[in-house]
Amino acid sequence: MKKVKVGIIGAGSIAQMGHLPFYQTHPDVELVAVTDLNLDRAKSVAEAFQISNVYGNVEEMFEKEPLDAVSICTINCTHVPIAKLALQKGISVLIEKPLAMNVEEALELEEVAKKSGKTCMVGMTHRFRHDAQAMKRFVEAGDLGDIYYVKAKILQRRNTPTGWFTDQSKSGGGPLMDIGVHVLDLAWWLSGQPKIQTVSGHLVQGIGNYHTIMQNRWESAEKLSTLESVFDVEDFASGYLRFTNGIVLLLEASWALNGPKDEGLKVEMYGTKGGLSLQPLCYYSEHNSILTETKLDIVPNNPHEAEIHHFVEAVKRNEKSLVPIDQGVRVMQMLESIAQSSKSQREIRISEK
Ligand SMILES: NC(=O)c1ccc[n+]([C@@H]2O[C@H](COP(=O)([O-])OP(=O)(O)OC[C@H]3O[C@@H](n4cnc5c(N)ncnc54)[C@H](O)[C@@H]3O)[C@@H](O)[C@H]2O)c1
Repeated sequence: MKKVKVGIIGAGSIAQMGHLPFYQTHPDVELVAVTDLNLDRAKSVAEAFQISNVYGNVEEMFEKEPLDAVSICTINCTHVPIAKLALQKGISVLIEKPLAMNVEEALELEEVAKKSGKTCMVGMTHRFRHDAQAMKRFVEAGDLGDIYYVKAKILQRRNTPTGWFTDQSKSGGGPLMDIGVHVLDLAWWLSGQPKIQTVSGHLVQGIGNYHTIMQNRWESAEKLSTLESVFDVEDFASGYLRFTNGIVLLLEASWALNGPKDEGLKVEMYGTKGGLSLQPLCYYSEHNSILTETKLDIVPNNPHEAEIHHFVEAVKRNEKSLVPIDQGVRVMQMLESIAQSSKSQREIRISEK
């Protein structure tokens, strides 16, 4: 069978931890090239993963390598320009989250993707977790009845990432764009992707740069000290989203908050017949007029591996992926509206077609 020829763009933390190792374990993939503006980093990553070709810019890689697919693992402000270039060359793309800096950019990319006919997938890794997929089965089987309230949160106590993540011009925003996007997407997907109607948001830079020691944080490969880097984004975000089918979703995301230590990603769903929670993974209902609390027993998987392998299969069959661009655009619209609402101190009304 013909191998899927893959290129990696951006050889930083997520490429090394969440993409390269799992392309390597797919039997139908040939990792062909690595590109990074930092050529030394690209070279050392290529050596570590035994990849022959290294480039300092995407244009040159696209010119020289006949690729089928790329992973875009660069900083957020470069996602859309690079994805457009790739799709215009007939190359399928897996774009790390957040999809874009804003809705306008995301819509432009959607147009290019449609014209190309290639797979354009957004890296919403948590949809690939076994526990999330188990929840989805309960929802789709109707075990919740009509869902009317969903809580999505990811609250970290001191986990502000280093480097470009805190610079609005490069990241497009703080924890809302960085980790809020994960939990919002997951909760919205589990809820059956309802149409958004109104959005209220509240973004705050409450802690900012800090001197807290002996704590881990996500480290960009660009190891700028947080104390020296630009910090003009929020570190706490919340949103209150109403959907046309009556579901209301409460979102909370922080990098740094004076509360309990990092609880991880949490989703709670409440319906007329039952409820579900992610961490603990439980189904709450009533049986024979008795309250029940059922633990869902699943073996955890590596969602990064599942995501990469799913993308490869979608490329091989030229199929729509589990996270197609149009869904990424809709999530982008919610994120942007949360930030706009906070800025204008008003609820935003959206008419989704
Ligand atoms: N899915 C997840 O769970 C997850 C986790 C972490 C990060 N991410 C996302 O992955 C992306 C990268 O994050 P990271 O933590 O790896 O960042 P990083 O800073 O560690 O790495 C980014 C790399 O991209 C390179 N780069 C920047 N612009 C480039 C360009 N135009 N062409 C080629 N290379 C370029 C940088 O030199 C750097 O090596 C971000 O969008 C981030 O939001 C996703």
